[in-house]
Amino acid sequence: MRAPLIVIEGLDRTGKSTQTAKLCKRLNGYLVKFPNRETRIGKLLNQYLTDKSNPMPLEVAHLLFSANRWEMIKDIEDSLNKGTPVVMDRYVYSGVAYSMAKGLDIEWCLAPDKGLPKPDITIFLKANDLDSISQREGFGEERYEVASLQTSVRNNFETLRSRFDEWEVILIDGKDIDQVHEQIWKLVCPLARGLTTGLNRF
Ligand code: TYD
Ligand code: MG
Repeated sequence: MRAPLIVIEGLDRTGKSTQTAKLCKRLNGYLVKFPNRETRIGKLLNQYLTDKSNPMPLEVAHLLFSANRWEMIKDIEDSLNKGTPVVMDRYVYSGVAYSMAKGLDIEWCLAPDKGLPKPDITIFLKANDLDSISQREGFGEERYEVASLQTSVRNNFETLRSRFDEWEVILIDGKDIDQVHEQIWKLVCPLARGLTTGLNRF
């Protein structure tokens, strides 16, 4: 038996951090957030995201986000193999959706993540009302928190949803934290006991 790999995706300020933390606690799992700003590569990414006056080529940024996932892969696989569920706050799909929004090709974007473990379930927290997101506290502080980019990212998430079959969508408009959590829990519960199948790979 191995534990499940659970991913929560969504735009900036859709409540991913709150929901992944709550889910992880309930599952007694291991929470992994991407970008992980604490690693060697993560420190570079943090600087890139917070210092808007200091750009880098789109391709380089994309490869760093991917490298940041590869930096964590041993920890993630060890956790799954010893039976501890892994809950992720963003993963491969954020990498692809944000880079596509900046003009990169989908296949090019997916290539460096080839071989990473595939989630057993990906839950997309979807907001139809993008205005309310951009009004949330803190929006606009970082490089990608620009309304026009968010619309494009949301469309790219829809493209990915039709390509990958483990995706589930939860509409968050008008729902409070506990309502969204209970919907997430219903989807995750059947996986919580563990899986007999091996990990899939991108
Ligand atoms: P985010 O999850 O918003 O970090 P925090 O919760 O600390 O604000 O991630 C920061 C930004 O990085 C966000 O705008 C999405 C972007 N991003 C990518 O462009 N590519 C990636 O591969 C990942 C994981 C994130
Ligand atoms: Mg953010």
